[in-house]
Amino acid sequence: MSDASPAWDPRQYNRFEAQRGRAALDLLVRLPEDLDPAEIWDLGCGAGQHAALLKRRHPKAKVHGMDSSIAMLEQARALSADVDWSVGDITTWAPDRPADLILANASLQWLADHAALFAHLADALAPAGLLAVQMPMAWETRHHTIMRETATEGPWASLLAGVDTIAPLLPVEAYYEALAPRCDDIDIWTTTYLHVLSGEDAVLEWMKGTALRPYLTALAADPTLRDDFLSALGQQLSRAFPRRPEGTTLLPFPRLFLVAQRR
Ligand SMILES: C[S@@+](CC[C@H](N)C(=O)[O-])C[C@H]1O[C@@H](n2cnc3c(N)ncnc32)[C@H](O)[C@@H]1O
Repeated sequence: MSDASPAWDPRQYNRFEAQRGRAALDLLVRLPEDLDPAEIWDLGCGAGQHAALLKRRHPKAKVHGMDSSIAMLEQARALSADVDWSVGDITTWAPDRPADLILANASLQWLADHAALFAHLADALAPAGLLAVQMPMAWETRHHTIMRETATEGPWASLLAGVDTIAPLLPVEAYYEALAPRCDDIDIWTTTYLHVLSGEDAVLEWMKGTALRPYLTALAADPTLRDDFLSALGQQLSRAFPRRPEGTTLLPFPRLFLVAQRR
């Protein structure tokens, strides 16, 4: 992903930090308690909270946080001076020293060719190094289906026809296949969270922080059309995910987790 890609807005993304952060913590809790890594990489580190957490947990380790978004990295730099932050692209990333721990939380779902990508990440690990990944299984969800359908059904359809958004993940077995030639102890699981969101148009607001960014970028030159698209999508989402009497909105959200150890 280059700087020409739709901009990340840390403020919008972090509106739902509690829900988004929960999955990363559920992933990190699966790492061995006696882990003593020297080189840690957080790939697609975003606003940096997990790299900073790993630095607190492993103070002797060299912790690197890498992301393609300058806006996200600005937040990360403000969070911790003890992490080595850098701009980069996961697909071409090659560390100077093999990594003892690679974390990629909610970043790889944006990238293509996962079979090659996961092999590439495993190749960057030191012997016994760990790869820890969490990816939203967003493509199959109801709110993503509604987003794609709405994009094809209105005066915005021609502008949104070629928009490149999150692709479906591979079947879980394919991740095992990609890692098995290089790794042992491959642990893959999925969990569906029931996110309890607050605020008006909660699902739309949730999507503005991530999945909708490419669509909104494609409509940026025509703010009226963009607002009409958002309004139509908001109505569809409100029907599918009604706000409850106490003001919350429930959003079921499946995620894939993976921890693998390099041979
Ligand atoms: C959904 S955010 C997750 C951020 C963080 N890992 C977290 O858990 O809060 C996805 C991040 O991946 C980054 N990203 C996407 N594609 C990337 C790429 N090819 N190389 C580096 N970073 C990338 C984005 O800039 C964004 O900060």
